Amino acid sequence: MSQIYQKSEVAERNGKNGQPVWIIYKGNVYDVTAFVEKHPGGDDLILEVAGKDATKAFNSAGHSSDAVQQLKEFKIGEVAIDAQPKPQSGQKSAGLQQQQQQQLPEPKPAEKSSNSFLCCC
Ligand code: HEM
Repeated sequence: MSQIYQKSEVAERNGKNGQPVWIIYKGNVYDVTAFVEKHPGGDDLILEVAGKDATKAFNSAGHSSDAVQQLKEFKIGEVAIDAQPKPQSGQKSAGLQQQQQQQLPEPKPAEKSSNSFLCCC
């Protein structure tokens, strides 16, 4: 099984103060410390995303499939999934809507009118 790292653990490995350089790419954690100086795009670009999720930066640089392949060599584990995912705003579940409908007040029965017609037969 793959090693699981907390986001905070990855954040500490940001290349500063002698720390290694870890990045997150598509939910996986990579130790790219040894690669930073060899990066064809320069070390600064990797150091900018060190300790963080580098998925967008990596993809938007238009890397070749070779680069993606190379990245796999540095995989050390996976990042832990957030314990409490935020509920999506503006969306109500069908269950909630049903619950709210049930809480609506019952329609009142028609009140007796004082001058209502009384039948004698
Ligand atoms: C950390 C994992 C990374 C690996 C393994 C990696 C690998 C590579 C490789 C092999 C190349 C040569 C061209 C290619 O094959 O696509 C390259 C180029 C490049 N990379 Fe990365 N890269 C990484 C991260 C990043 C990040 C986070 C950025 C941020 C934007 C970046 C930006 C670039 C750029 C701009 C080039 C083009 C350099 C040039 O053509 O002069 N890379 N990278």
